[in-house]
Amino acid sequence: MDDLKAKYLSQIADAADEAALEAIRVAAVGKKGEVALKMRELGKMTPEERQVAGPALNALKDEINSALAAKKSALADAALDERLRTEWLDVTLPSRPTRQGTLHPISQVQEEITAIFAEMGFSVAEGPRIDTDWYNFDALNIPGHHPARAEMDTFYMNRAEGDNRPPHVLRTHTSPVQIRSMEKMGAPLRIICPGGVYRADYDQTHTPMFHQVEGLALDKDISMANLKWVLEEFVKSFFEVDDVELRFRASHFPFTEPSAEVDIRCSWDNGQLKIGEGDDWMEILGSGMVHPKVIAAGGIDPEVYQGFAFGIGIDRLAMLKYGIPDLRAFFDSDLRWLRHYGFSALDLPTLHGGLSR
Ligand code: DAH
Repeated sequence: MDDLKAKYLSQIADAADEAALEAIRVAAVGKKGEVALKMRELGKMTPEERQVAGPALNALKDEINSALAAKKSALADAALDERLRTEWLDVTLPSRPTRQGTLHPISQVQEEITAIFAEMGFSVAEGPRIDTDWYNFDALNIPGHHPARAEMDTFYMNRAEGDNRPPHVLRTHTSPVQIRSMEKMGAPLRIICPGGVYRADYDQTHTPMFHQVEGLALDKDISMANLKWVLEEFVKSFFEVDDVELRFRASHFPFTEPSAEVDIRCSWDNGQLKIGEGDDWMEILGSGMVHPKVIAAGGIDPEVYQGFAFGIGIDRLAMLKYGIPDLRAFFDSDLRWLRHYGFSALDLPTLHGGLSR
């Protein structure tokens, strides 16, 4: 028995893994193992012999079993230690600046604009880029014969012969989202809608696809004063200057009455644009009090609700803020341009953390 004990305890101590341990268990204390065979011999013994050998065999079996259990948990601990050692990862390391991709200036500016208006309680609305001419024109008080339709250089979608669906256009502005938002959400309402728009036009400051952000605020007591404040706050935050002077110039849009175009005071020094000082003015947006017909087209009672709207050219703002001279380069997909003017995708603009780090 002492030989058996010494043999198996040393095998257990040397076992390299769980499979080896299991083989030892079967050979030692399994149903047909050596200890079981010994137990069978008890029957041939005298009662006196049995009284000594029986308990001793049971004790041996217990001892081997507990040695097996202890070794098994030691092996598991070692395996875990090994995993912890090899699978270790330092999560405090900075990310690798691989510069594989950057945020396009349009995306960056869109994020900046969204952050600013979100702070003022505006939520982001969306609409389709292919829309019906009703949403793009009629609902915005631009009827069929209106000259504004021609001025917008609209792309019309082809229609098959006999197709009776309403004519579709590539939206020429984000203003149709005003109507869709009113229909969906009713009043009171405070939304912005950034997105792509299309017009057949191409030169240094025009591309057939460009971006606008629409704004709409409806409530029972909104006035031009609110519009002026909101736009001033926006421009100050966007250009990251404390003081700006805006000029509201009387204008005409079919969907607002009264309408105003807004210029910002600026200076051009050796081709360097400075916002908030100087003797020049630059147009940055169109705006006004929403026309009652437009509010009604959105399914809201213009006798109860009124409000302001505005439309800002995003690409234009991006060019101004980041000193990008030619609009066409925005959409050339030139990697060198994208790397030069792109932004880190990890630094999302916030009012508190900085809009354009
Ligand atoms: N939709 C106009 C355009 O594309 C811009 C605009 C002007 C939008 C006045 C407005 C607004 O919401 O009130 O030229």
